[in-house]
Amino acid sequence: MTTINFDSLVVGKSIAVDVEGKPVCVARVGDEVFAVSNICSHAYAELTDGEVKGFTIECWLHGADFDLRTGKALTLPATEPLETFSVVRQGNFVTIGQAKKEM
Ligand code: FES
Repeated sequence: MTTINFDSLVVGKSIAVDVEGKPVCVARVGDEVFAVSNICSHAYAELTDGEVKGFTIECWLHGADFDLRTGKALTLPATEPLETFSVVRQGNFVTIGQAKKEM
């Protein structure tokens, strides 16, 4: 588990955190927070270097879009989903926990 400050998250931006050795991309959309693998499922690129657009994040390397809510690959060249992680918010604390789905 990793806990971060909700106030440190900027709407429409993502940050990289480590959750038990796994690189995780945490993104804030409005008052909601989502956590997905920070490594693109297409090749090796960190998604935190990409752009958050609504509930999606675009990989900067080849342009695949992923749904932050489900990890689903929305556009080619990615076809495999991202691993997603549990997010629990209590006041100003956001805890990123276990992976919801193993790849
Ligand atoms: S590495 Fe992300 S789309 Fe290719």
